[in-house]
Amino acid sequence: PITHAVKRQLTLALLKPDICASQKLQVRVHEAIEAQNIKIVSQRPVLWTKEEAGAFYAEHKGKFFYDRLGPFQALVLSSPDAIKEWRALIGPTHPCRARIHQPTTLRALYGLSDTRNSFHGSDSDETAKNEIAFFFPELSIDNLLKVQDSQA
Ligand code: TYD
Ligand code: MG
Repeated sequence: PITHAVKRQLTLALLKPDICASQKLQVRVHEAIEAQNIKIVSQRPVLWTKEEAGAFYAEHKGKFFYDRLGPFQALVLSSPDAIKEWRALIGPTHPCRARIHQPTTLRALYGLSDTRNSFHGSDSDETAKNEIAFFFPELSIDNLLKVQDSQA
């Protein structure tokens, strides 16, 4: 049988506290995501403890930006190449660099400084899976991908 399998991938996005401090800004970011044909398939507000933040950012343990906490938003995004597409949309880690080299990216537009870069995106399939499970333990990634295939 001929199948029309459309490649689908999920990634985890975080809109950090500086974005979520403004409802308007948060809406603008959602619009920017949807304008790229990236689907927001799940979302939840999060306020985490220092311990939870520590588990998520274990590789950055001990760095000073580690303990700046506040309410933020976790999103599951879906598109054919979601991990790369979302990271391309947010741009380079350091907003000051982003403003010079990729001025239309979200970090260039909304990042406050090199250590307040407003966004997170998973960096591989493996981390996307773990990070989605971290924030959305009730979601079955396999099911999400299946549902979307049948809608393609
Ligand atoms: P990292 O995973 O290296 O970057 P990215 O978010 O682009 O994948 O770093 C994780 C977060 O740690 C980063 O988004 C913000 C913070 N961070 C800084 O504030 N300054 C830095 O120099 C680095 C490397 C990270
Ligand atoms: Mg990273």
